[in-house]
Amino acid sequence: MSKVASISLMQESSSIRDIDIKYKNVLIRVDFNVPMDKDFNISDDTRIREALPTINYCIDNQAKSIVLVSHLGRPKGRNPNFSLKHVIKRFERLLNREVFFAENIESAKRQQDMNTHQVILLENIRFYEGETKNDKELSKKLASLCDVYVNDAFGTSHRAHASTYGIAEFVPQKVAGILLKKEIDNFAKVINNPLRPLLLIVGGSKVSSKLGLLQKVLDVVDKIIIGGAMSNTFLMALGYNMQKSLIEADLINDAIRIMKVARKKNVKIYLPVDIVSTDSIELPKQIHITPSQDIPENLIAADIGPASVKLFTQVITSCQTVIWNGPLGVYEINQFSRGTFNLAHTLANTYAFSFIGGGDTTDAIDKAGQRENMSFVSTGGGASLELLEGNILPAFEVLDKKPKILLV
Ligand code: 3PG
Repeated sequence: MSKVASISLMQESSSIRDIDIKYKNVLIRVDFNVPMDKDFNISDDTRIREALPTINYCIDNQAKSIVLVSHLGRPKGRNPNFSLKHVIKRFERLLNREVFFAENIESAKRQQDMNTHQVILLENIRFYEGETKNDKELSKKLASLCDVYVNDAFGTSHRAHASTYGIAEFVPQKVAGILLKKEIDNFAKVINNPLRPLLLIVGGSKVSSKLGLLQKVLDVVDKIIIGGAMSNTFLMALGYNMQKSLIEADLINDAIRIMKVARKKNVKIYLPVDIVSTDSIELPKQIHITPSQDIPENLIAADIGPASVKLFTQVITSCQTVIWNGPLGVYEINQFSRGTFNLAHTLANTYAFSFIGGGDTTDAIDKAGQRENMSFVSTGGGASLELLEGNILPAFEVLDKKPKILLV
């Protein structure tokens, strides 16, 4: 199936706005998997904020109860460091309402039976072993909490787990939340009939994590900028000595193949023409800017250089739609952040539709102070990559379809 067809299919999912939820028990799968520091301070609450429209919609439309289900991290068993208790204060403040915290499904059920119109947050669903195994019993138990199942966890929509997939089998009505709809409609904008030229900027540390994307996207995009440690493998494939830089030697042939196919399909690939390299990422004593061919002996590539920023700026400003996934250098460290930050500024100043996907990219544009100036920032990392690869996400597969309007 083509990317256009698969995205259109997902857009056909029925939405919470299509059904009546008055006096019904509603379970919403949200993605409150937010980043925190070691003292559990939330460093980015976007995912909680983005879930509010659906939750408020349920409150305004007098749902009988609203049970929220989410995971946090990848705990092994009931590890208190992964408790959603760390999230509840911020959630209550943003929702401007008291929320009942349920330690388990039984407690959520009791609370639901005792009170009406209450918002209940269930403890980390991954504390149940069956969640990631898409266990039938757990799916049924979750389903027993609701008449209507709403999936609004776009960030987790590529997982076929009990709370994102299995549950749907046991609930009469299953629909997409407002965030899920917004995400898929914005993806449709960049994939189905985008304004061209369409550019993909891809970065991050590993070619392996984005190999599928690079191969599949060649049928869709007009240009690709490759930066970050990923580009080291491509530069090495061109015969450059990347010294001590991170390389995936086993993927050199894939990199060569991608460049060959791109040429055949007339997709332009742009690689860094200069590199900021260092002796140590954490404690740099030496920092050099050289052409990509001339990285000094024993140094490590850490960022794209100023000439690459100029080149990439020209490419970006020539495009009408830009999808960005993955930073172009070690942006968390001041000395190696300029490439990523400068391109964030460039993108913010273009008239192109700019689509940002992935946690690190979002964090980078935030640090560059440009989040507000992007056209759309997705709450999904892995999920957005899978969509760009043309996959139908499991969470969408199990939702009801919008009723077809028959013209007679
Ligand atoms: C994410 O942060 O990408 C989502 O919350 C999914 O988390 P997972 O990769 O642990 O399933």
